[in-house]
Amino acid sequence: MKKLALLALPAAFALALTTTAFAADGKATYSDNCTKCHGDDGKGATKMGTKLGAKDYSDATVQAAVSDDQAFKSIKEGLKKDDKTLMKPSELSDEDIKASVAYLRTLKK
Ligand code: HEC
Repeated sequence: MKKLALLALPAAFALALTTTAFAADGKATYSDNCTKCHGDDGKGATKMGTKLGAKDYSDATVQAAVSDDQAFKSIKEGLKKDDKTLMKPSELSDEDIKASVAYLRTLKK
């Protein structure tokens, strides 16, 4: 019995690792949830992005103006300007939000 448990442990550990790696795949999460507005390149030059006024996140100044905490909060709780909803509160997990922000950071020129 003991031996079996010892064998099962690494397997469970490996599974946990792959699940985490999957959840934290920022690029895929970003592609699925953010490109519609922010674009593949983060420039926000999509139809929706232009309409809503998405900024150019390939620009270092734009990136520097928003902290990770602020970014996280705006995605998690949504972002509004006056009465206009810019981003709806996200249904993504905290890990996925962080991973997608981390990916957005890599789009900085
Ligand atoms: C419906 C369009 C839309 C979607 C989808 C969307 N955003 Fe946004 N987002 C905007 C707009 C518009 C703004 C406000 C202008 C700007 O900062 O680009 C914004 C702002 C932001 C900001 C700055 C927040 C702040 O407080 O200044 C970050 C970071 C961001 N988005 C990241 C993301 C990420 C990551 C995703 C995907 C998980 C995402 N957005 C999905 C439209 C969208």
